[in-house]
Amino acid sequence: MLDSRIDDLCRVATSEQQLLDDATEMIEAASDSYSWVGIYVVSGDELILASWKGPQATQHVRIPLSLGICGLAATGGETVVVDDVNADPRYLACFAATRSEIVVPIKADGNVLAEIDIDSNELAAFSGEDRAVLEKAADSIGRRLAELRG
Ligand code: SME
Repeated sequence: MLDSRIDDLCRVATSEQQLLDDATEMIEAASDSYSWVGIYVVSGDELILASWKGPQATQHVRIPLSLGICGLAATGGETVVVDDVNADPRYLACFAATRSEIVVPIKADGNVLAEIDIDSNELAAFSGEDRAVLEKAADSIGRRLAELRG
């Protein structure tokens, strides 16, 4: 299960970059429906792509907090699921093949430190179970991230 693998990672990760890189890889491996997985970190008033697995993103590697599904999840502090990205005017496109997206905030003590962004090439790819597992993973990552940042 993804959440127990992430918990194991959180016990052994000794740097922020290792935590984010290994988490990204584990999340991407968790489902065949995930076509791209990235973790953005909050830095001032923008999101910076810190780690990813999948095709190289050539745009939106930095996203203002006021824009996109990513900005919405970071400012609202809640998971955002978009079943059909082409029907959502807030969506910022990175990959032409993407059909649905989930963005899960990574929080510590209520503050959003980062977020998990997953694209799928399938419409409505993210179930309630995906969301629950990813939110659990994000909780563990958030706790460890705050510890590593001291
Ligand atoms: N779709 C995101 C931008 C990031 S790319 O999907 C990698 C958004 O709307 O914020």
